[in-house]
Amino acid sequence: MSPRPLFALALAAVASLAAQPAGFNYDEAKVPPYTLPDPLVLNDGTRVRDAATWRAKRRPELLELFAREVFGRTPAGRPAAMHWETTSVDRAALGGKAVRKEITVRFTAGKDGPKMHLLVYQPAGAAGAHAPWPAFLGLNYYGNQCVNADPGIAMSAAWMRANADFKIVNHRATEGTRGAHASRWDVETVIARGYATATIYYGDLCEDRGEGLTKSVGALFNTGAVNDRVPDAWGAIGIWAWGLSRALDVLSADPEIDARRVAVHGHSRLGKAALWAGAQDERFALVISNNSGAGGAALNKRIYGETVERINTSFPFWFAKAFRAYNAREAALPVDAHELIALMAPRPVHVASAEDDKWADPRGEFLSAKHAEPVYALFGKKGLGVAEQPPVNQPAFGDGLAYHIRPGPHDIKPQDWGYYLDYADRVMK
Ligand code: GCU
Repeated sequence: MSPRPLFALALAAVASLAAQPAGFNYDEAKVPPYTLPDPLVLNDGTRVRDAATWRAKRRPELLELFAREVFGRTPAGRPAAMHWETTSVDRAALGGKAVRKEITVRFTAGKDGPKMHLLVYQPAGAAGAHAPWPAFLGLNYYGNQCVNADPGIAMSAAWMRANADFKIVNHRATEGTRGAHASRWDVETVIARGYATATIYYGDLCEDRGEGLTKSVGALFNTGAVNDRVPDAWGAIGIWAWGLSRALDVLSADPEIDARRVAVHGHSRLGKAALWAGAQDERFALVISNNSGAGGAALNKRIYGETVERINTSFPFWFAKAFRAYNAREAALPVDAHELIALMAPRPVHVASAEDDKWADPRGEFLSAKHAEPVYALFGKKGLGVAEQPPVNQPAFGDGLAYHIRPGPHDIKPQDWGYYLDYADRVMK
């Protein structure tokens, strides 16, 4: 039998994840009424009136609620034995326009423990002339070689999910994955605009499947199995977010990178991880959510597109087990996405949606940024600067908060990068 029908089935299964499953609400008129928690009311019912009280009291309360009820707890800091080595440097990469560095980061003393491979591009040019460079940092889906066709990038040997382009054979990357997500990274443009760009394969930290929790970083911290964890044990999103902080540790030691100007970004599930990383780790100077949807920037209590029950059912290993208590009970959640965004304040957050990405609830993504504004106001920041969700192709670059929606599907496009770079120029340069 020809493999085609099987491939077609696999393709349909993968595609259906990103499209709009039937049986969910996509009708604005049918969104039931909901009440959002007020980010400025402390657990004891008193009101936060200044930035100092926010920082000292409310921010820790919200971090605790997100850890306990949604993402699970993150171990503090980096493992004592974490160390890294630079495995390659090419100072004439991308036709001479960039410097490419590859760094292997090991989380334990030996060579056999969990590790991640960090890829960094920075603009070419004499070190010291323009350096240290501001940088973008994000996780990738198919190994570092997927972000650019550059033949010098080491090919990931790690397990990966099946891929609709069939460049993954037996869950391993092949040469065909080189540059497969180049349009999602737009490395040449980012470099040309004067930024470094760094990435890690998310599966180095936690494979994107249930058994991932008992391997690599999950095993290092005795996470437990997907259904056999303490209720507030972290899930894959927590682990991915932790890896972003560990990558920032490494970038901070590179004199050519300006660690005070690192933007953390991510698309979809990795946008959820970027938000949680930015919320916990105040070293990130800018946080970018690209189509992060449910459990990310979209309000959970707004019933539109993906629901808490659905995400916990499809991906029971992404969040803490405790989050399952809110399946079909969104109203009972003590926190919502506007508070996740508010945890960055006063640092800038850029939320992006795609018009056809109804599953991620574009309006719910906008509203969470909007409802984070009272916290930014404590710091004298005006927020989005628009009262209503702007139309496509009209980004709102506000004071502390930015939002845009572009035409098209769930993806990261060069158009998104154009907006991210424009906003980064305002807040990081
Ligand atoms: C699924 C999932 C979303 C997620 C997306 C992705 O669609 O339901 O929550 O954001 O995959 O990561 O692409």
